Amino acid sequence: MTDTNANTKGFTLTDNSSNQSWDLPVLEGTAGPSVIDVRKLYAQTDCFTYDPGFTSTGSCESKITYIDGEEGILMHRGYSIEELAEKSDFMEVCYLLLHGELPNVAEKKTFENSITYHTMLHEQMMNFFRGFRRDSHPMAIMVGVVGAMSAFYHDSTDISDPHQRMVASHRLIAKMPTIAANAYKYSVGQPFVYPRNNLNYAENFLMMTFSVPAEDYVVNPVLARAMDRIFILHADHEQNASTSTVRIAGSSGANPFACIAAGIASLWGPAHGGANEAVLKMLQEIGHKDRIPEFIQRAKDKDDPFRLMGFGHRVYKNYDPRAAVMRTSCHEVLAELGVEDPLLELAMELEKVALSDPYFAEKKLFPNVDFYSGIILKAMNFPTSMFTVLFALARTVGWVAQWKEMIEDPNQKISRPRQLYTGNTGRKYPNLSDRS
Ligand code: SDX
Repeated sequence: MTDTNANTKGFTLTDNSSNQSWDLPVLEGTAGPSVIDVRKLYAQTDCFTYDPGFTSTGSCESKITYIDGEEGILMHRGYSIEELAEKSDFMEVCYLLLHGELPNVAEKKTFENSITYHTMLHEQMMNFFRGFRRDSHPMAIMVGVVGAMSAFYHDSTDISDPHQRMVASHRLIAKMPTIAANAYKYSVGQPFVYPRNNLNYAENFLMMTFSVPAEDYVVNPVLARAMDRIFILHADHEQNASTSTVRIAGSSGANPFACIAAGIASLWGPAHGGANEAVLKMLQEIGHKDRIPEFIQRAKDKDDPFRLMGFGHRVYKNYDPRAAVMRTSCHEVLAELGVEDPLLELAMELEKVALSDPYFAEKKLFPNVDFYSGIILKAMNFPTSMFTVLFALARTVGWVAQWKEMIEDPNQKISRPRQLYTGNTGRKYPNLSDRS
């Protein structure tokens, strides 16, 4: 990774008490906000910057994904999410995120073959699933089993070896559908179904999830295409909480399987990837459009912890472009399945009412990727508990691509933030007998 050239633009920081000043260079990227380079700030001023939640902090330089929150733009390696969702497929997007370019015919075939021939798990790993309670949340199983991959694939844990990094990347992308499908099968008491090499990535996942040994299973091509598109929409998203978790875990030199397990754990939260599950529960709780005003009022009430799940975003202050594609897919899938889901009508009415409310307009709160995804997944017969698992399945390629970019950055070092300390200082230890 080449250091972005500091240009002549910059800021001068002045200490009002000492009148001392320091020049801070500004680094410019190819799109989006420039950054003030504060790497020398502490050495020069004996002060840290302070930005809980990193609302104004760039943690790294990256070439993978760019979001323009004001305009509602999302690009992967310069290609818009709308074009990729319409014209590409998930395997191509995986290659693009990992390598920076769309594959040619030969490259695509080689990559797809490599993923296909890594879809099986080490047979002993199947025992891990049986150690969980049947009613375990499948995200708990994902965290456990993916972390355990580092106990089985030692020949791809040396992060200094580019070949091993590539093997680990392909293993993770390839095995996530198998692990996810097994987590589902275990929860419903059905036998695990092995992958089949004659099916594409999305078809294989649907077959492993929904087929049973007792009868033939034919993948619905419309659902397979919708599944593939949902994977594309969730593939990567700059330095979100789970991706930052993977980068920080990887910065210590931890093996890739442990890093991705950490990312899965972070994604699980309802403020992040867990929101798709929370949206469906919220819609089921609202139940009827007559109750929408009551929940809109609750979302606006500072004293009520309730938030409109699937609404709002740290970066998007416009419509999340992924939500727009997801809403279109919603209609296609429900039409294909002949499903009249009142929750879709309710979601669309909720969106209409919220977007016409000044509170949401002023705070620039729009539907995000999680608002419609649950309705499609429910129509495809996924249980609500599997929604975030599918998000983790798709986001694995983004986590892996960002982890790879960090490892290959010559300026990479362990991430170790500082703090503003406001606790006690200089206290003398009291003997137990002297304490009140
Ligand atoms: C994902 O980062 C990513 O890129 C994530 C993601 C990805 O692909 O990786 O896009 C995936 O996580 C999407 C987000 C899914 N989460 C939800 O849908 C949960 C509901 N949304 C909120 O919790 C919230 O909007 C966040 C967490 C998404 C963003 O929170 P921020 O950026 O910290 O903003 P904030 O909480 O400071 O909110 C700003 C204001 C606040 O009001 P004030 O204190 O200024 O008066 O907006 C209000 C909030 O109260 N607000 C909401 C709201 N979201 C924000 N009010 C009601 N309902 C909401 N959903």
